[in-house]
Amino acid sequence: MKRIGILTAGGDTPALNATIFGAVERANALKMEVIGIIKGFGGMIDPHMPHVHLNPLFSTIPELDPTSGGTLLGASRTYIDENDSELLQAAVKRLKAIGIEGLICIGGDGTINGMQPISKFFPSVLAPKTIDNDLGLNYIDEPNEYAEKNSGHLADKNTSQLPGHEELKLEEIINYATPGYATAVFVAVQGVRRIRTTAESHRRIAIIEVMGRQSGYIALGSSYGQPDIILIPEVQLDLDAIEKRVRALYDLQKHVVIVLGEGVRNENGNPLGAVNPSVDPAGNLLFQGAAEELKKILCERLGDDYFRSRRRFENADSAIFTRKIGHTQRGGRPIEFDRFHASQLGGQAVDLLKQGENNMVSTLQWSPSKGFYLSALPANKLRDRWGEIHPRLVHSSLYDPERFQPSRLGINYLIPIFTNAIGWGDMEHMRADLFNPGNLATRYQSVNIDIQKRMLYLEKP
Ligand code: F6P
Repeated sequence: MKRIGILTAGGDTPALNATIFGAVERANALKMEVIGIIKGFGGMIDPHMPHVHLNPLFSTIPELDPTSGGTLLGASRTYIDENDSELLQAAVKRLKAIGIEGLICIGGDGTINGMQPISKFFPSVLAPKTIDNDLGLNYIDEPNEYAEKNSGHLADKNTSQLPGHEELKLEEIINYATPGYATAVFVAVQGVRRIRTTAESHRRIAIIEVMGRQSGYIALGSSYGQPDIILIPEVQLDLDAIEKRVRALYDLQKHVVIVLGEGVRNENGNPLGAVNPSVDPAGNLLFQGAAEELKKILCERLGDDYFRSRRRFENADSAIFTRKIGHTQRGGRPIEFDRFHASQLGGQAVDLLKQGENNMVSTLQWSPSKGFYLSALPANKLRDRWGEIHPRLVHSSLYDPERFQPSRLGINYLIPIFTNAIGWGDMEHMRADLFNPGNLATRYQSVNIDIQKRMLYLEKP
């Protein structure tokens, strides 16, 4: 294989450039050319198919910086419908026209679905990414547990999971952590800590919303910031228990910090922040504000008198506040854990293509004896019998719903990822770069401008 394509699809993460970098460096060593397709599958639909040669003379272009967040290739949630054979054939023809012999797609579950039809024409492999940490399995036979159609949950497409393994064995997890997750947690934890002290001073209840559509991994990881209550989408909210805990904590410490994953579900199993859900172009539910909904509920349940009787001189509406960590979780410089493992997974994707694999996913495994190591999984192993890929949910043995905290096993799950996740380089970078006087004198230099200068087209527009 002499020339391969690479693209980034779905929501971005801070570690995408690191994955591309790892792939390109490995390709340099194997004397393979790498062509970056601009804006994911959307780039292939464009008749001009904008693309960039990432390693002329087998040397990585300087614009590809593994320490920079986002993706120099651009990303989109546009996918090619596998039933639209005309569009699919046209995309394949374009890839062939520029001499591509294999494809690396960097993405999550949507990207595997986008890759699948293309893998019938080209060897294609997936290098995983997602801040939600939901691309993977708790154990290998988990997809076979999806059985019943029409569970009634808004966030489920049409299957529900039957009871599975009660206790998780950490070494059996497929894709222990996905690139982007550690940096998202790094940002969320700092957010929790910063909001904590202001809630503490003003005797307020803070409700902090973190990302994670269906999986509560970011909320679980936020436990490093020591929030008082963590709520994850996997466990339906028990509002009486939450109110009781909030009252006890507020009476004790005069403030409360709650973290919730954006996809938390109410007692009927429907997402709290998307009662009348709309969807994005990829069909994902758009969440409109679970934290705001929980605030409304707590305001009603506690009432103004609760705060006044405690001499707070504030009504419930101002004593309870919400903050979304939002897209700061998805952007910026990746921390060392993500940089290192993302680039390893990118390199592994190139090796898989070189070995003649197709429709495979490069994975990051962990075991107590080996630590983190690379492996690979056929993409179809992630699908249930109807072909659907479900987000990996936080396993029930990782979370204690009575204490609203990670369980002992949940703590054991987090430790290998985060203990040395921040490198000295990360700290030094912050010290040297954040208040660099040069930042005052120069405008932000967008990589989009530099990549535009290298852009190639099938037929120049
Ligand atoms: O799937 C990754 C993710 O970051 C989710 O956690 C979040 O709900 C979503 O993307 C936000 O997507 P967008 O920025 O495209 O609205």
